[in-house]
Amino acid sequence: MSALTITPGRPFGALVEPADGETELGALDPAVVRDLVHEHKVVALRGFRPFAQKEELVDYAKRWGEVLSWNFGEVLDLEVHADPKDYVFTSGPVPYHWDGAFAATVPSHQVFQCVKAPDLSAGGRTVFCDTGLVLAALSEETRRIWETVKVTYRKEKTAHYGGHITADLVQSHPHTGEPVVRYAEPLDPEKFVSPLFLDVDGLPEDLTAEAFFADIEERLYAPEVSYQHVWADGDYVITDNHALLHGRTAFTAGSARHLRRVHVI
Ligand SMILES: [Fe+2]
Repeated sequence: MSALTITPGRPFGALVEPADGETELGALDPAVVRDLVHEHKVVALRGFRPFAQKEELVDYAKRWGEVLSWNFGEVLDLEVHADPKDYVFTSGPVPYHWDGAFAATVPSHQVFQCVKAPDLSAGGRTVFCDTGLVLAALSEETRRIWETVKVTYRKEKTAHYGGHITADLVQSHPHTGEPVVRYAEPLDPEKFVSPLFLDVDGLPEDLTAEAFFADIEERLYAPEVSYQHVWADGDYVITDNHALLHGRTAFTAGSARHLRRVHVI
């Protein structure tokens, strides 16, 4: 296998580049990349030959494990739609969530390919939160509250996902057993074409849902626990979907931005 240059990100994440010039992503042993994702939570692979066809991305992801099939197929093209049925297909912000909350199986990994990155000044960064870091920084009291909280999420299925689920705020990572936060931010119907409504259960009497939303938002976006990926054409990004939450910053309307995403179960 070709030599790699690994640059740790702050406060987590890693940039992985071939040490000897452009090479094939498929030349890397998926087990090696999996270990890097386990260690760094999100790994950006840069300087590898871009897959021209979607099927190549799917074939690569299948070397990691079973690929989740959605009603649109295995590859989600993330780009702006002329008549968006879901807010992810706009140029607006995407608040934190985890993928597959409404699916039968929550995927373990997201595998992204950046077909076209926005200009550096245009925004459209993908934002990740390492929820283990968030939990580690909580006071005993707040941690106890969070461990009793359950959130019910309601979203109309306007695109490929939606429904009605209830999830513990703090859960165990299914592969590592480490505590993680599962949380999706509320989406205000005034601002998002496909709103998400939350009912929070288990808060102490003196803590309103609004105060909880504001507090958790501040903690999840703190610079000590969040990492913003600035996309470059051809980047591959692979994440630990169970450990992280992710979202996106808004980008300039009309700016190019095209990502492809595959979920590995
Ligand atoms: Fe997502």
